[in-house]
Amino acid sequence: MSTLSTQDLVVLTQNDGIAVITIQNPPVNALSPGVPEGIANAIARIRDDASVRAAILIGANNRFIAGADIREFGKIAAAGGKRDSIGLNEVLHTIENCGKPVIAAIDGHALGGGLETAMACHYRIAASTAHVGQPECKLGLIPGAGGTQRLPRLTGLAKAAELCAFGDPVNAATAFELGIVDRVLAPGEDLLAGAIAFARETALALPLVRTRDKDAKLAEKPDFTALREAAAKRSRNLNAAQRAIDAVEAAGVMPFDEGLAYEQKLFMDCLYSDQSKALIHIFFGEREVAKVPGIDKTTPSFTIQNAAVIGAGTMGGGIAMCFANAGIPVRVKEASEQALERGMAAIRKNYANSVSKGRFSQETMDKRLALITPQLGYDGFDQADIVIEAVFEGMELKKEVFRELDAIAKPGAILASNTSTLSIDEIASATSRPESVIGTHFFSPANVMKLLEVVRGASTSLAAINTCMQLGKKLGKVSVLAGNCFGFIGNRMFGPYRREAQFLVEEGASVAAVDRALYDFGMAMGPLATGDLAGLDVGWRIRKEIAHLQKPGVRQPIAEDKLCEMGRFGQKTGAGWYVYDAQRKASVDPQVEAWVREWTTEVPKREIGEEEIVDRCLYALVNEGARILEEGFALRSVDIDIVYVNGYGFPAYRGGPMEYADLVGLDKVYARIKEFEGQHGELWTPAPLLVKLAEEGSTFGAYSKRASR
Ligand code: 3HC
Ligand code: NAI
Repeated sequence: MSTLSTQDLVVLTQNDGIAVITIQNPPVNALSPGVPEGIANAIARIRDDASVRAAILIGANNRFIAGADIREFGKIAAAGGKRDSIGLNEVLHTIENCGKPVIAAIDGHALGGGLETAMACHYRIAASTAHVGQPECKLGLIPGAGGTQRLPRLTGLAKAAELCAFGDPVNAATAFELGIVDRVLAPGEDLLAGAIAFARETALALPLVRTRDKDAKLAEKPDFTALREAAAKRSRNLNAAQRAIDAVEAAGVMPFDEGLAYEQKLFMDCLYSDQSKALIHIFFGEREVAKVPGIDKTTPSFTIQNAAVIGAGTMGGGIAMCFANAGIPVRVKEASEQALERGMAAIRKNYANSVSKGRFSQETMDKRLALITPQLGYDGFDQADIVIEAVFEGMELKKEVFRELDAIAKPGAILASNTSTLSIDEIASATSRPESVIGTHFFSPANVMKLLEVVRGASTSLAAINTCMQLGKKLGKVSVLAGNCFGFIGNRMFGPYRREAQFLVEEGASVAAVDRALYDFGMAMGPLATGDLAGLDVGWRIRKEIAHLQKPGVRQPIAEDKLCEMGRFGQKTGAGWYVYDAQRKASVDPQVEAWVREWTTEVPKREIGEEEIVDRCLYALVNEGARILEEGFALRSVDIDIVYVNGYGFPAYRGGPMEYADLVGLDKVYARIKEFEGQHGELWTPAPLLVKLAEEGSTFGAYSKRASR
């Protein structure tokens, strides 16, 4: 058989009676336009060619198929109208009805449409390192090419519901145990050779059975109510997770083709939903933020082999763990023996907790701890490729530390500050090498939170930025580049958001109602509970430092300052907005609302509904985000979204604050902000960029695309 190609996306060759269909659509062999057609063409030729007895479907570059081309979904959803199918099912019918065994040879990832394609094959054989899964719900979708119908026929209904509703891939060994793959090769064994051998020895020796005809595992009916509750707990408010379970449940009661049609209907409903648009925006956004204008493959970056951290408090300890977890040796310097021991004890406790929960072994804990060197002096700091300062938030102290570092660190070493608000330029001015000074703003707990805000100063070199962006990836973080403004991206926006939450209480909303409304919107926690968690004293100290910048006559919230004056700093003191028991479980403290009424007698009280609570808090975020974008402190609106989703508990299925505003419609957001301006004055002056885009009928997303061109 000659080589056939569909624009070289799918190549057909033959190996002594066994056809090999190779998909070559880099980087991930997605089912982009041309690929499904290429597979269908190849199958038609195999079916008609008497010399071919079986076929292998394999992906080039050691990757099977990462799924449907997600970019196409964006186009379909944006095109308007309503299609009733994405058309993949027809190709999969061609495979399963080929009349000759087709074997999927899986390396890398078989995800979404990739696994669905593999399941339409008659057998699946996997490299030991392969992963398979139905991650569509993470994009606000359900499997749309038979995944909810064929997977339960291989694994049973319960496991299929879990895989489709949670979206986590499984490794080859688990896939074999679950019945998804028929054979796993030994490590190092050649996949194509193994698949060809399997075709000759097994597939050709057995009768041909299509996955759709395997009904035995459908007999056992799980408790779907419990599965739905588990999915609702894990993926709060995520429609796709529930719809995926609906479709899997249907597999147990409907004939295959009817189940497929039902799945297709649910899939298309999900595809046209705002949740899916938002999650697809986040998927591409998490990759987009790594792209920094001016940085490309030729930009130098240093490999971080040795790290050092100053301060072993809440953040320094967590940052040290990040390095150790990534296998990078790290020195941790403290100011006193007592603080050092306290910091190390917290690290040990954290690791021991993970071991007791079975997250990793004692051996892993010991290895990680051995990578952390606690010390009181600067020994070995001259070898560090990066030093991250995480001492108290105070400019004079930070400058003193950077002066010391400047004298010790080797040339080219990155000198980073974990400051939440202070100017990187002013910190850099304490050194003779501002090009090496940068902000690396981790989020608490640093070893858990996925976000790293990389803050560029006026003189920070591209090499330093490139190194820190890549370091973030190595530490398992999503790095977002921010400009050097007060609070950078995240905390600058968080100020107005939390200001409005306090104002709402001062105007008569209950503490619980404010938090409940934002929690129900999808935030991981309400804004007042978040304050209690982070420590109300943090903002209190910052407000005192910047009090001289506040414009006289402009309203400021006072409740948190008053609570702090009473020693109520939040969880750490057992009381803040709420009171906390020994297990840090929160209870409403009715006294707080009574105090707020006393402190704010001049503020008229009224009934405040949930919609106003949500709009006030979220549009305060959006308005400040628009300023940050226009002033160039964020590269694109999606960068702001990624900061909020990964660092502030903003629900990914809402797309982040800027995408949320785009989905609501900027004209509506602008009108509401004007309304608030009329009621509350200049704190609500609409950001000029918002006004402009609303008047043009445009979006933050479109503005960012234009600006980056
Ligand atoms: N469609 C389009 N582009 C994709 C893609 C897909 N399915 N998967 C990855 N890409 C793109 C990425 O955007 C990135 O592009 P860029 O270089 O321009 O930024 C590039 O491919 C490389 O991706 P990663 O950086 O993520 O590469 P990794 O090697 O780190 O990870 C992966 C590979 C694990 C496959 C990861 O890309 C991934 O999880 N992809 C998405 C998988 C998925 O969700 N599949 C389901 C799709 S929906 C579906 O199939 C519906 C069906 O039921 C009908
Ligand atoms: P922390 O108070 O828990 O820890 C600071 C530590 O620095 C203390 O242990 C102190 O002994 C030590 N220290 C002070 N001076 C020192 C010196 N000269 N040499 C060595 N160690 C010294 O403070 P936290 O919360 O860890 O904050 C550190 C920095 O991180 C601050 O700039 C803060 O704004 C920032 N940050 C804090 C977050 C949080 O949620 N706590 C989140 C993100 C950033």
